[in-house]
Amino acid sequence: MAKKLWDKGFDTNEFVTKFTVGKDREMDLYLAEYDVLGCMAHANMLAKVGLLSVADNTALQGELKNLYKKAQDGQFVINDDVEDVHSQIEFELTAACGDPGKKIHTARSRNDQVVTAVRLFTRAKLQAIIESVKSLFDTYIELSNKYKDVLMPGYTHLQIAMPSSFGMWFGAYAESLSDDLWALLSAWKINNRNPLGSAAGYGSSFPIDRQMTSDQLGFDSPDYNSVYCQMTRGKAETAVATALAQLSQTLAKFAADCCLFMSQNFKFISLPKEYTTGSSIMPHKANPDVFELMRGYCNKISVLPFELNRITGNLTSGYFRDLQLLKESYLPVFERMQMCLDFMEFILPKIKPADDILKNEMYQPIFTVEALNEMVVAGVPFRDCYKEVGHQVMEGKFHWDKPLNHTHIGSIGNLCNDKISAYFQSTYKLFKFEKIADAIEKLTK
Ligand code: ARG
Repeated sequence: MAKKLWDKGFDTNEFVTKFTVGKDREMDLYLAEYDVLGCMAHANMLAKVGLLSVADNTALQGELKNLYKKAQDGQFVINDDVEDVHSQIEFELTAACGDPGKKIHTARSRNDQVVTAVRLFTRAKLQAIIESVKSLFDTYIELSNKYKDVLMPGYTHLQIAMPSSFGMWFGAYAESLSDDLWALLSAWKINNRNPLGSAAGYGSSFPIDRQMTSDQLGFDSPDYNSVYCQMTRGKAETAVATALAQLSQTLAKFAADCCLFMSQNFKFISLPKEYTTGSSIMPHKANPDVFELMRGYCNKISVLPFELNRITGNLTSGYFRDLQLLKESYLPVFERMQMCLDFMEFILPKIKPADDILKNEMYQPIFTVEALNEMVVAGVPFRDCYKEVGHQVMEGKFHWDKPLNHTHIGSIGNLCNDKISAYFQSTYKLFKFEKIADAIEKLTK
């Protein structure tokens, strides 16, 4: 028989319980540590406004610390007969402290509890992701500087186009990450506001102190309007998922480049053989499965905003049980994203660019614009030069072997990696991770 916070002396049908609880016992384990943090701040606040005695709060904080440690160590359990993490925590507090445990739910609802826990969970996981993006960014910049003079073909329509370099290629992905960081910052800001105290979505008649819980949990401010607090469920997740989708697309595009460039028809890059995978039938194979899976995982992540949007899109304001389902695809995505970032960081320095690619005759047409530009400098109008070089190519007479001299901002001779790094750093500073670490340290010590 299931134990319920909302028990009123009769049993709910077993099948109804099974259907409504769904995957919550599994999903809520992601949230345990963070729901405990929310409880700590809430109990402190209840004590401050006189809804809980100092002694009651002391008892609760002691047990909450035990639960926090358990959750951090992966030892927190949601019993089979308990609906969710919020119920489990209240039952544990009641078992350990008696009446104070039965008082903690004063002036709150599981509706604001779960939104708060998801926010705190998101913040912790997002911080780890952002730190990884930062180190991946540094690696791309390093590789860009290292290979700045190694030329490669640039393509449009996948047809050879203009000279490029490995410095340009790696550096492009560094700059892409710096725009992704902006998207992550926007998501971070939306996420880092406090819905706790909105209760079921309409506040309460108690004079609770929502600024206090915001400060204790390291949020930038409360999400003020209690109705809006509930409206953010799914909206904040979608903002975060959209930023992750953007980041994923950067990694997926790089992975797709690698798959192509490792092909025997290109041979622009290679991996040492221990990082390639084989075939069960073809003995010669050394496949780039690592980049194919990187692309696949990341493409999968990029679909998440659509799924979240479909769950919340046609709901009216106020809580609905549909919202519970957001957790199933949202909470696990952080592990996936983190794994992709960790693996990219691991494999990136193993990539070996080929030298002298452009020496191959087949790439001669890549230099047509160089030849044309030289004539422009000599005073011939651009369109006339264009026609002249075009005819040389058609008649098989085009040849070019002079050194390149590209100097403008963002060209192969002037990558501006220092500017790109400054841009990344200026965004990174705006996250203010220290402030959050301080708040959580104070709350849990
Ligand atoms: N498991 C629920 C969820 O994730 C918790 C909130 C339950 N609230 C309610 N009104 N039934 O949404």
